[in-house]
Amino acid sequence: MSDQQKTRKDFPLLQRRINGKPLIYFDNAATSQKPQKVIDAVSGFYQNHNANIHRGIHTLAEEATDIYENVRNQVAKYINANSPEEVIFVRNTTEALNLVAYSFGRPSVLKKDEIVTTIMEHHSNFLPWRELALENGAALKAIDIDNGGRLMIKTGENKNEDTKNKKGRIFNHGTKIIALTQASNVLGTVNPIKEILSSVPPYTLNAGSSPRTQSRGYPLVVVDGAQAVPHLRVNVRELGCDFYAFSGHKMFAPMGAGVLWGRREILELMPPFLFGGGMIKNVSLAGAEYAEVPAKFEAGTPSVADVAGLGAAIEYLEEIGYEEIANCELSNCELLLGELQKIPEVTIYGPKTTKDRVATISFNVRDIHPHDVAQFLNDNYGIAVRAGQHCAGPLHERLGIPASVRASLAFYNTEGEIRVFLTAIKDLIRVFK
Ligand SMILES: Cc1ncc(COP(=O)(O)O)c(C=O)c1O
Repeated sequence: MSDQQKTRKDFPLLQRRINGKPLIYFDNAATSQKPQKVIDAVSGFYQNHNANIHRGIHTLAEEATDIYENVRNQVAKYINANSPEEVIFVRNTTEALNLVAYSFGRPSVLKKDEIVTTIMEHHSNFLPWRELALENGAALKAIDIDNGGRLMIKTGENKNEDTKNKKGRIFNHGTKIIALTQASNVLGTVNPIKEILSSVPPYTLNAGSSPRTQSRGYPLVVVDGAQAVPHLRVNVRELGCDFYAFSGHKMFAPMGAGVLWGRREILELMPPFLFGGGMIKNVSLAGAEYAEVPAKFEAGTPSVADVAGLGAAIEYLEEIGYEEIANCELSNCELLLGELQKIPEVTIYGPKTTKDRVATISFNVRDIHPHDVAQFLNDNYGIAVRAGQHCAGPLHERLGIPASVRASLAFYNTEGEIRVFLTAIKDLIRVFK
């Protein structure tokens, strides 16, 4: 039995049949399947340790708190944070990005400032900035892509006048926030974050200041890591960003546990996002004093079981290893890209090679609606793909298409599955003709 066949056995759901066919799960960018180890961590929490954290002095409360805080340490090591206090547990990437937009953005972004994002963002990393820009009277600009699905980041290379200033630079003195994804959930492009940020001065803090009084011209950099963390080893300090957001459920952990990493000195300046239990030091009628980070940003009962599952997922990923993950995913991606390009009716959006790419491939089949493609694949071949805009409306508008089909691979997908998928696409074209 090959290593991959053994790995697949770790995922109970991959054994399912759909419409009489073995499930071929190519919707990993939406959410990944969960290994037994993660499922056991969640049920083990409820069977043996269930209690609320940070509140009790009984054994179960202490155990639950230990589980939760140990995963915080684990996440901090995993992404190379400076300290566990820089790791804030949230529900998902969406909540993490909204937290930054509300807590940092609202008091800091001023009229005539600008927020720079990219045309390939998921709505989660677009709408919070759009709303903030509208509310505070700031400009929102989106870096464009070239025909190969890569960001046009070099000076003067950008044809979209709206995204460069008079000197041809993408960022300028008034840029307050740069919000960009590390990997596109539609194109599969992996953006050169380090290279992009090399032209950005580090965000500097004035001692004793609040975000409201920060001087202008030092952009804060927010990276959406939702589609990167399941595929790449992430080192937040090396990337050079100020915030990094990701969801556990796309990296084999349960739905309900996500992470916002932020530089501690910035987190400390920011006001709380949600108010309630667990985020205070003292409250009286006269006033309230809020807890230090990270508790300041974790109001209410967190999803402790899901956080336990996130810890198990990180362990699992470390056991498999990112090298192995990249080998499996990119060899299948290469096969899929190569073979799809041989089919004249198929148009692929995004990079056509595996360089700086994850194995997420969006495409259309001429004269066949993406929903019909997805339905046909599901009903006749048990293949799960996504059809629609994948929460990336601006990108689809830029590409001039109403929707697309997306096949997104994980390391447990096999070459055999790719071959069935290719047969299914050819069959679809034959049937619809
Ligand atoms: C790039 C990207 N950002 C953000 C999100 C939002 O993730 P969640 O729904 O877990 O908040 C997604 C989900 O597909 C995504 O692909």
